[in-house]
Amino acid sequence: MSTDKENISEYYGKTLQSSKDLKTSACCPVDRMPDFMMPLIQKIPDEIQEKFYGCGSPIPLSIESATVLDLGCGSGRDCYLLSQMVGPGGKVIGIDMTEEQLSIANKYKSEFLDQNQRNCGSIDFKLGEIENLADCGIEENSIDVIISNCVLNLSPDKHSVFKEIFRVLKPGGELYFADIFSDRRIPQSLKKDPVLLGECLSGAMYIEDFRRLMTSLSCPDYRIVKKSAISIEDAEIKKQVGMIGFYSLTVRAFKGEYEDRCEDFGQTAAYLGTIPESPDFFDLDDHHRFNKGKPMKVCGNTSKMISETHYAEHFNLHGDRSIHYGLFEDCGGLEKEKNQPSSCC
Ligand SMILES: C[S@@+](CC[C@H](N)C(=O)[O-])C[C@H]1O[C@@H](n2cnc3c(N)ncnc32)[C@H](O)[C@@H]1O
Repeated sequence: MSTDKENISEYYGKTLQSSKDLKTSACCPVDRMPDFMMPLIQKIPDEIQEKFYGCGSPIPLSIESATVLDLGCGSGRDCYLLSQMVGPGGKVIGIDMTEEQLSIANKYKSEFLDQNQRNCGSIDFKLGEIENLADCGIEENSIDVIISNCVLNLSPDKHSVFKEIFRVLKPGGELYFADIFSDRRIPQSLKKDPVLLGECLSGAMYIEDFRRLMTSLSCPDYRIVKKSAISIEDAEIKKQVGMIGFYSLTVRAFKGEYEDRCEDFGQTAAYLGTIPESPDFFDLDDHHRFNKGKPMKVCGNTSKMISETHYAEHFNLHGDRSIHYGLFEDCGGLEKEKNQPSSCC
């Protein structure tokens, strides 16, 4: 393990005892938890919840019977939650490199699964590094959904992490993650600071470099689902980071062939209201809310994000790609891109 990773493991395995020990709000849930999650969370043991260091709720809907992989699962809160959502036909795999975190995750597993066996999918926690999922036995094209909550910023080799993600996802599979991003590149002098790194700040991805990374991995269109600013109250840390702006983003991306711009083929999509946790609307991203029964004009990429993925059964889609009408103007074209952190529609 590299020194940076040893420092991170030390931080999460020994320095922090609970989320109360964090010095910033970076590794804390900044968005309100959706209502449907409340009863599911209540079934999760307190010790696991106290050691939850996520920065969002990257829990996708419509995942019944899915195989879900949680990168950097920590003490496993999201895995316990996902196991209830995938149900008895599903499977959740959590990977983390910090033994102390995984020992908490494993401590309650048998009891939890025994008590909830009728409603839960299996859970498998694996000790390993997210840059090399093959070493953890994760095969190519084997995963329906990958989630990650405030972890990817901590990796010193983000290119390998995202390359692995797209290797192990099935075609049409979804990546849905929450993480810390910055509005500029972090200077080298801050990158080695163990507290800034552990608090998910100095490893934060500069959003434009993230866009370049995703494009280099043939994923030019990913979607921002939520964005929240990170407030830094600790005076010392505030002084260190100076003008750098940090925010937590929830991002979704799919494995498939997407174009780098939103193109118009005259397609529409109407949500059927069939996802039990969201009967009235479905939010694909921060600017696509599909109200039940109301057809919406969509670009070619959005249409594919629905028709080729686990969301397909919940939509009525119309149109194909036989006629092209030019750039999809309802997405705002170039003008909108200037103000959007995302790369496309
Ligand atoms: C901020 S915590 C988040 C944990 C968990 N996702 C949650 O929401 O509570 C970061 C976790 O990522 C793990 N981690 C960081 N870098 C990793 C890597 N390269 N490979 C595997 N795990 C890693 C750490 O051990 C730690 O448990």
